[in-house]
Amino acid sequence: LENGVARTPPMGWNSWNTFGCNISESLIKGMADAIVNSGMRDLGYQYVVVDDCWMNSTRDSAGNLQANASRFPSGMKALGDYLHARGLKFGIYQAPLDRTCAQYFGSYPGATGAQGHETQDARQFAAWGVDYLKYDWCSPSGTIDDQVRTFARMRDALAAAGRPILYSINSNSIHDKTGPRRNWGDVANIWRTTEDITNAWNTGQTNGYPMGIQNIVDVTVPLASYARPGAFNDPDMMEVGRGGMTDTEMRSHFALWAMMASPLIAGNDLRNMNAATQTILKNQNLIAINQDTLGLQATQISNDGSRRVLAKRLGNGDVAVALFNQSGSTTTVSTTASAIGLSGGSFTLRDAWTNASSSSTGAISASVPSHGTVVYRVTAGTTPTPTPTVTPTVTPTVTP
Ligand code: DGJ
Repeated sequence: LENGVARTPPMGWNSWNTFGCNISESLIKGMADAIVNSGMRDLGYQYVVVDDCWMNSTRDSAGNLQANASRFPSGMKALGDYLHARGLKFGIYQAPLDRTCAQYFGSYPGATGAQGHETQDARQFAAWGVDYLKYDWCSPSGTIDDQVRTFARMRDALAAAGRPILYSINSNSIHDKTGPRRNWGDVANIWRTTEDITNAWNTGQTNGYPMGIQNIVDVTVPLASYARPGAFNDPDMMEVGRGGMTDTEMRSHFALWAMMASPLIAGNDLRNMNAATQTILKNQNLIAINQDTLGLQATQISNDGSRRVLAKRLGNGDVAVALFNQSGSTTTVSTTASAIGLSGGSFTLRDAWTNASSSSTGAISASVPSHGTVVYRVTAGTTPTPTPTVTPTVTPTVTP
């Protein structure tokens, strides 16, 4: 969607994976502080997204949405101000039909979806300082035409609201087969590709709840041609740091999301992260690959069911290559410089995890543990691209 935002995949944090409906003003503020104190903000994690369950169960007499007063006693504008004062951006959740998912499935009271209130809600969000809207189709029914019309209505309402707002949609509840039913790049900045993620490597699902990392990769890799600046596939908020996977699997999860030009939206509790989790979420080589200016999603070079190779062309002429071992035991995964689109007789490979550089005359290969992913940034010639240094894009003013 050409609305000026999401020129690269959005990065940030979302409340749903860890907290569900157990959210509050103090929780979100604590997470904002943790993004800053952990150094994540300065690596690009900017959006703090409050998912479902922030709202009151009724609109006010003028039809305006209201914050749940016990959870967000200072209101949503004050929360947005808190985030903006720390150089962060404010994300909020709403649903297009009559109620949100938590309301639809009965775990949360009310029926305050946007249906018939699109213009009013978009203006309200803009007035609160919202920078990101997650818009979540919750009914199991509806045709694809209903979805296009309905999602486009909020796209247009946001465009008219006078504030740049990243538009994130989820059409997944009516997918009748794996993957979204259409390329949503004309409607939204990011769109979910699957049912909800869970903190497991493989749940055996390709079209149902819950999806593991391997299952989501299987569905999202074939959608590579949809990705471009302003429009990215969204394989869901990350499960890094949530348990349920080995460190090798969590590293693969992050590496593959980086390669797929996926939004990097953390879903873990940022207030207590172990060293492994921090090392993964703060890997600057992978963040640079994800945030590359070309905005391309990695395409598949080969997949024999065990060994899978993906390659992502980068703005400076380098190519990032992922050697992914889907099998149950350590194996060697290989490709070549020419297979990933590079020509010449000498190449430098820099390992995104170890930062070690090596030279090659064209072979690209690594011994990869079960469920592991080795990523190399490949440069033609003998001079490796220097380690990226991330310059913070914001100078926050902290209100005392
Ligand atoms: C379904 C979405 O897929 C989740 O990410 C989350 O937003 C829930 N709805 C909230 O009810």
